[in-house]
Amino acid sequence: MRTVGILGSGSYVPARVLRNAELEGMVDTTDAWIVARTGIRERHIVAPGQATSDLAVLAGRRALEQARLEPDDLELILVATATPDEISPATSCRVQRGLGAGRAAGFDVNAACSGFVHALMTGDHLVAAGAFENALILGADTLSSITDYQDRESCVLFGDGAGALVIGTRADGGEILDHIVGMDGSQADLITVSAGGSRQPACHETIDRRAHFLHMQGRKVFRFAVTKICELVREMTSRNGLSLDDVDLVVPHQANRRILEAATRALEIGPERVLVNVDRFGNTSNASIPLALDEAVRRGQLEPGMLVLLVAFGGGVTWGATLLRW
Ligand code: ACO
Repeated sequence: MRTVGILGSGSYVPARVLRNAELEGMVDTTDAWIVARTGIRERHIVAPGQATSDLAVLAGRRALEQARLEPDDLELILVATATPDEISPATSCRVQRGLGAGRAAGFDVNAACSGFVHALMTGDHLVAAGAFENALILGADTLSSITDYQDRESCVLFGDGAGALVIGTRADGGEILDHIVGMDGSQADLITVSAGGSRQPACHETIDRRAHFLHMQGRKVFRFAVTKICELVREMTSRNGLSLDDVDLVVPHQANRRILEAATRALEIGPERVLVNVDRFGNTSNASIPLALDEAVRRGQLEPGMLVLLVAFGGGVTWGATLLRW
């Protein structure tokens, strides 16, 4: 197997900012409650007509520029998303067209908020095996399209955005070292969007029940998330012969500041080694990890040789982690 590393990163969030004060006028909530219980102050929301692939194309273009690759060089596009533009075709097809990456193959990956790590593992293994020379791995979501802005428990959490990594075998890209992924389908009902698929096709009755929106059991998700972050970090470090102190930066899925604080407190990892940007973007699902990573890259926080650990959890329930040397 060939060594695969990160050649470039990119991200994009739509211009419109939805602040907590505006949510106060939509549901029975307050800025103080949202900040205290979630750490979120604002999130970005798409303009009417803007879809997941539009965000993904802009993030992907930035990642290609940083990787010094032309769209035509690209061989594989994987889009991790829980909010595709449409049921068919795959959002990756729309992204290929938008980027002008006519030589690239591609497909979508759906593992809810863990999808980005699943896509990164898939792309890494395909490139390592020699099936492709490079891949664009995108995490992109328009959660506002499935958010019920009458449900105060969930509508305060979500935002829209996209993040991207270009991976390849070039020597300047560091090294992707290891992945862990998993799921527990017995907890599939914790977070659902139940209508609009084959079990409950779209009809007036499903719309009336608001079944096309995301429903979640927040407290159970919270407990699962804290436990799973701790398990993933411990398993990934121990099976690679590392201690927690060896990891320079943890990039967790950004769902709720309290989840991240509880997990890192239990792991005894100092806050300076954990990326948190949920205050400005909310939970952007598949975009959250590559968006946080790209911000760190662009402010010069990452140096060659650093050990970076990506940690994700999401509906399904699913989870995943990737260890890489920058
Ligand atoms: N404003 C004011 N009050 C609220 C709000 C709100 N926006 N939302 C809920 N409350 C109320 C509840 O109704 C409840 O009232 P009650 O005591 O009268 O019944 C009270 O606040 C406390 O509710 P809890 O559920 O105990 O609040 P908690 O501290 O657990 O916070 C939250 C709720 C923020 C949803 C938390 O459980 C959470 O973040 N869970 C994880 C959710 C998550 O990450 N989901 C996304 C995963 S899926 C994905 O990533 C796409």
